Amino acid sequence: MPDDVAAVRALAVRLAREAGAIQRERYETAIEVSSKSRPIDLVTEVDRACEAHMVETLRRERPGDDILAEEGGAHTGGGKAWRWVIDPLDGTVNYAHGYPCFCVSIGVEHEGVRTVGVVYDPLRDELFEAVRGGGALRNGRPIRVSAVASIGRALLSTGFAYDVQDSEHDNLAQFVRAVKSSGGVRRDGSAALDLCYVACGRFDAFWELKLHPWDVAAGILLVEEAGGRVTDLAGGPPPASGREIASSNGLLHDDLLRVLRG
Ligand code: IPD
Ligand code: CA
Ligand code: CA
Repeated sequence: MPDDVAAVRALAVRLAREAGAIQRERYETAIEVSSKSRPIDLVTEVDRACEAHMVETLRRERPGDDILAEEGGAHTGGGKAWRWVIDPLDGTVNYAHGYPCFCVSIGVEHEGVRTVGVVYDPLRDELFEAVRGGGALRNGRPIRVSAVASIGRALLSTGFAYDVQDSEHDNLAQFVRAVKSSGGVRRDGSAALDLCYVACGRFDAFWELKLHPWDVAAGILLVEEAGGRVTDLAGGPPPASGREIASSNGLLHDDLLRVLRG
């Protein structure tokens, strides 16, 4: 691994663990929760504390890099070789309710190419990481997507955007078809972890509409490096925007797309 990639990977791992420690420490304590775009779109003081810690550290240690961070702590100019795409706390609704499913997600692009992905689940102490061309790991051990080839036996996962109460583009038709065609569908509330669970074979596939760059920047690389496939719903390359993401072990990908399209 080239030295610059190794340095970025090491810093991403450190930041994810440090932000995860903040999440663990403050989990199930009295924290301030407020709403963003809609009443159900939450942000907590822990989201902001995690983001501030990571952004301040990056500005100090890598002042020449771009940063895109969800809570607006950093949306820097663009045009730099390295760009950090950060979800400081993925699974905020879970966190605010004390439901134990959330993580830190850090994806790093080099010249626009997904190069490093790190996702840390602080309650399970599980660190998922991938470097382009180097495979995917969970707590240092190689992981691979599942071998389930039939969608009828597959365990799927999905999620719903915060405009689900007032948008017709709500993923419910796809959800119903998936429930009727698969071995089960979960909705756990952390897209970054959903992608990691595809990467390590716990889920056979995951899809979602209207995600954002920070939800998928690390997870797409993890699934690809674990031998899986990630596309948009038409089977094209996965949009960095997260607008629509279909991910799977590869074996059932075409069947997944068929079910989702209806
Ligand atoms: C959300 C989670 C959730 C997904 C939403 C995302 P947040 O991110 O990943 O699983 O269904 O679409 O916005 O707000 O917890 O960072
Ligand atoms: Ca998120
Ligand atoms: Ca978030």
